[in-house]
Amino acid sequence: MPLLFERIKDIRNHLERLRCDEGKSIGFVPTMGYLHEGHKALIRESKVQNDVTVVSIYVNPTQFGPSEDYERYPRDLDRDMAICEELGVDVVFTPSDEEMYPEGFSTNVNVSCITEILEGEFRPGHFRGVATVVLKLLNIVQPDRAYFGEKDYQQLKVVQKMVKDLNLPIQIIPVETVREKDGLAFSSRNVYLSEEERDSALSIYKAFQLAQKMISEGKRQSEVLINAMEDLIRSHPHVTKIDYITITDPELSPVQEVREGDRILIALWVGGTRLIDNWKIKL
Ligand code: PAJ
Repeated sequence: MPLLFERIKDIRNHLERLRCDEGKSIGFVPTMGYLHEGHKALIRESKVQNDVTVVSIYVNPTQFGPSEDYERYPRDLDRDMAICEELGVDVVFTPSDEEMYPEGFSTNVNVSCITEILEGEFRPGHFRGVATVVLKLLNIVQPDRAYFGEKDYQQLKVVQKMVKDLNLPIQIIPVETVREKDGLAFSSRNVYLSEEERDSALSIYKAFQLAQKMISEGKRQSEVLINAMEDLIRSHPHVTKIDYITITDPELSPVQEVREGDRILIALWVGGTRLIDNWKIKL
């Protein structure tokens, strides 16, 4: 079984011994738990590149808006611990809210510009919560490398920007999105979907494939691609709202004509579940 820590001072002591006395390299995978194949890919990458792998499991309240799914977010620590054991995780950190945000807590990390668009527009304050908790976790664990999924592409960009701007001596390692056989990206929130809703959720991947096919036929105008993707998605009965379908360069600036490496980013609602996904364009 991995060692389980709930207190900051305890995990710090333990990791300091490994880092300083034994000279071990530390890889860190921050998560909100309910682990799936996407999380597992991050953990496996960390296992390959580091002596010690630390996973945090913490459903961070400050990155959820007041009407979002914080209360019902899926949680199952026993299952997560079993997965961590199977993968050979060395240390699991599960702090309480009091441990992370004791009374009087009043400091926040604000990465400007890229946090105001896309997810930031539809989830005000979300990235402030993410950046703050990620900086706290990085300071607690002090890893050599930290692993983030491209599934949450904008989050990855925000973390990279914060690490660069604040000169953190940590390598951020992006990991490609892991999908189910039919293309649906693994997400802890997929458990909310009924069978029919899951079918409509697949429209996201189908839209990526449609756009990719049109691109291979020489269609490069973002507007044309976006309209085609929107029509396809709207034909699925359980898609209740599209927050955005956009095409940007790798740094999240919208493009009019697509190039190799640009990203299609989609956020939509299937029934009461909000899903996000993105696709790297190949020419
Ligand atoms: P969570 O949604 O649990 O995701 C933890 C990490 O797993 C993130 O880096 C996310 O991008 C990655 N991930 C999720 N689904 C993936 C998939 N299908 N393929 C590859 N990677 C995937 O993201 C968070 O938690 C939180 O915001 C956190 C960073 C832990 C801060 O609270």
